[in-house]
Amino acid sequence: MAPLVTLITGCSTGIGLATAVKLAKDANKYIVYATMRNLAKKGDLEQAAGSALNDTLFIRQLDITKEESIVDAVKTIKEKHGKVDILVNNAAFGWMRPLEEMTMAHMRNMSETNIVGTYRMTQEVIPIMKQQRSGRIVNISSIGGINGFPFSDVYSATKFAMEGFTEALHPVLKCFNVKISSVCPGPVLTSFQENMIANQDPEAKSSDAEVPTKKMFTGFMGALMAPMMAAAQSSDEIADVIIDCIKSEDPALRCGTDENTNKLLRDRFNGGIGDAAAQNWYMMMQTASKH
Ligand SMILES: NC(=O)c1ccc[n+]([C@@H]2O[C@H](COP(=O)([O-])OP(=O)(O)OC[C@H]3O[C@@H](n4cnc5c(N)ncnc54)[C@H](OP(=O)(O)O)[C@@H]3O)[C@@H](O)[C@H]2O)c1
Repeated sequence: MAPLVTLITGCSTGIGLATAVKLAKDANKYIVYATMRNLAKKGDLEQAAGSALNDTLFIRQLDITKEESIVDAVKTIKEKHGKVDILVNNAAFGWMRPLEEMTMAHMRNMSETNIVGTYRMTQEVIPIMKQQRSGRIVNISSIGGINGFPFSDVYSATKFAMEGFTEALHPVLKCFNVKISSVCPGPVLTSFQENMIANQDPEAKSSDAEVPTKKMFTGFMGALMAPMMAAAQSSDEIADVIIDCIKSEDPALRCGTDENTNKLLRDRFNGGIGDAAAQNWYMMMQTASKH
């Protein structure tokens, strides 16, 4: 079988990097386009890719907040291979502070990246996949998209949006044999946590949260961080779940990444993970397409 052409966003570090390398090293089954917004950061990926580099793994520039960058990347891949088999929407960032401290510019930047970028990436590949009558899309969501996470209000909201986006597209794409899922990790040991806590917002309104909220935030972080990091998974573990999802004939609509996240998913969806509702919509789509 011809290798499956795969595009992954946000591969400079973490989960994107791990997934790209594992797929590229999987016995020539995949041609991986490992993309990142800043090619100056490609060193770690090049090193991890080893002999797969420029053989089954190709590094390309792609900033998911820039339409031209999305269009160019997908066009180049389509022109070279005539197809796109797999899209992994991975790029995103978080921020953990009281809401009052977040500027509107930072809210917009997070929404542009975590959500609008995912919408636009997906929009660019689905005509290709629909025409092929095959394809896989895996959206890297979060357990924060299933249960709102205190002091990560806007980040959680972007991941809830990703869940809604995935769920709504699922039945329609299924009619074209294109399968879409979300993967919902809990904490993962990547630079994400560091970036999330570091102040990425140069304009952060650090004095705007009132004293009781600041106190609550400091106490919460103190109580949260050690147990959270103790339960954290590795990027490799999450990459394995993503790859299982890609390989599955019938991937779940939502995939947990360990016992904890699977339990949270079951609790949230009354024992299921939303697949029953998706199946009902799918039946309706099939009927609708006959009119
Ligand atoms: N780590 C966790 O605890 C955790 C938990 C649940 C879900 N997740 C999700 O897992 C995914 C990957 O996160 P990670 O843990 O691997 O974090 P990470 O190591 O910080 O990686 C995030 C990646 O996204 C990239 N990115 C950010 N903005 C971008 C843009 N506009 N265009 C293209 N790429 C962009 C980053 O590039 P730069 O290097 O240029 O910044 C980086 O490559 C995210 O969707 C995250 O929400 C993470």
